Amino acid sequence: MDELVYGLDFGTSNTSLAVSDRKGPARLVPIDPHADPPTVLPTQLFFGRDSRGAPCVSHGAMARKDLIRQGVKGDGRFLFELKAVMGFPVRTTRLLGRLFDLEEVVASVVRFVKENADRAVGQRVRRVMCGLPVRFNDDPEIDARAEATLARALEIAGFEEHAFSLEPVAADAASGTGEAGVSVAVDIGGGTLDVSVVRRPGGSTPPEVLGVAGRVEAGRNVDRRLIDERLLLPFGRDLEWGDGHRIPPWVLTKVGAWSEFHLLADDADFRRALARTEVDSRRHPTVLALSRYFLERQGYSFVREVEARKIDLSEQEAVRVRFVGVDLLVLEDVRREHLGPVLEPLLRALDACLDEALARAGLRDADVTTVERIGGSARIPAIGERLAARFGRERVRGAGSLTAVALGLGELARQRFLG
Ligand SMILES: Nc1ncnc2c1ncn2[C@@H]1O[C@H](COP(=O)(O)OP(=O)(O)OP(=O)(O)O)[C@@H](O)[C@H]1O
Ligand SMILES: [Mg+2]
Repeated sequence: MDELVYGLDFGTSNTSLAVSDRKGPARLVPIDPHADPPTVLPTQLFFGRDSRGAPCVSHGAMARKDLIRQGVKGDGRFLFELKAVMGFPVRTTRLLGRLFDLEEVVASVVRFVKENADRAVGQRVRRVMCGLPVRFNDDPEIDARAEATLARALEIAGFEEHAFSLEPVAADAASGTGEAGVSVAVDIGGGTLDVSVVRRPGGSTPPEVLGVAGRVEAGRNVDRRLIDERLLLPFGRDLEWGDGHRIPPWVLTKVGAWSEFHLLADDADFRRALARTEVDSRRHPTVLALSRYFLERQGYSFVREVEARKIDLSEQEAVRVRFVGVDLLVLEDVRREHLGPVLEPLLRALDACLDEALARAGLRDADVTTVERIGGSARIPAIGERLAARFGRERVRGAGSLTAVALGLGELARQRFLG
């Protein structure tokens, strides 16, 4: 049997995998039977207990179903956006009464993906090309630790050999049409924004990567700013008692703190701040509801609702964010024009990355032949408009593919391991 190799895009929000052999083009492999499409696994895990109290762990789309069905109780957890916290100094987390290393948690996702993929392709695949963002984090120490965590997780999950490649370079490898010219790939996902500038001399001469740039600014930052800018009123943003007392602003900024919910409810300082605010406000119902929101980890459902409505705003002019918590009701209308200040930092990061990558390549905007939009957040209409304004509508292509990076990594895996 011919050896197969994998390209793995372990994304902040979504994970995909492509398989390559020596000859044909890379192809996507189904990795999540409950996801639609099964080639895109939501990067998330649910740690819970079944009706008899036995621990159970689920991945991807099933993890979300379990979250809705069972809720996060006791020592259960719903973990997501692992890639964004993978390099943090806190290296362990308590799950179902046991301490887990972050490497093990990441490996649990990779193993799930590998086992499903191996079953689908009919062999135990040993080698993988895995993607890396240009930057996981602005702090180089966190960045290095994130990469090391991913490397270790690949080993634990059963890969005997791995190599890394930059995600925007892989994105280009998948989308490149083969035409001669300079292509720019803009990949905006859940956690990072990545840009590559690649020259194709044409014919059989291989493409040359001229410059890359990246920022830690993408979909999750948009969601959080949307909450901070427009959705905090029902959580007590304007509430006042006594002479000018309010809920501490730093507590309110945690309402949309995606990856921190499992930590917040256990954090002694945070619990004390909540308790103090309760007493101080004479147990105002809004403050009590806010406490329960955190301590009962209702935030998972709220942030998921906000993300879903943000996605709708790419198609619709207006949406209504609905969330029913315990003693807490959010019913807020958001219009596309409200996204102005929410998207501003993303658009600034986009321009900065393009400037940086083109400067490294020694090129100007006019030298670019095509611009490819990749990643879910590249579907935001304002991103397309900004690219069209800068490069001309006729040069901008793509509709925010979620799987281009995996396909490109599959091609790079073939070149690296089977070439
Ligand atoms: N139509 C849409 N409009 C706006 N945002 C969208 C849309 N579809 C998906 N998104 C956002 O795109 C992000 C997921 O995109 P993608 O799957 O490319 O990210 P990822 O590869 O997991 O992350 P990263 O590459 O940053 O690690 C999420 O933040 C999601 O909310
Ligand atoms: Mg991505």
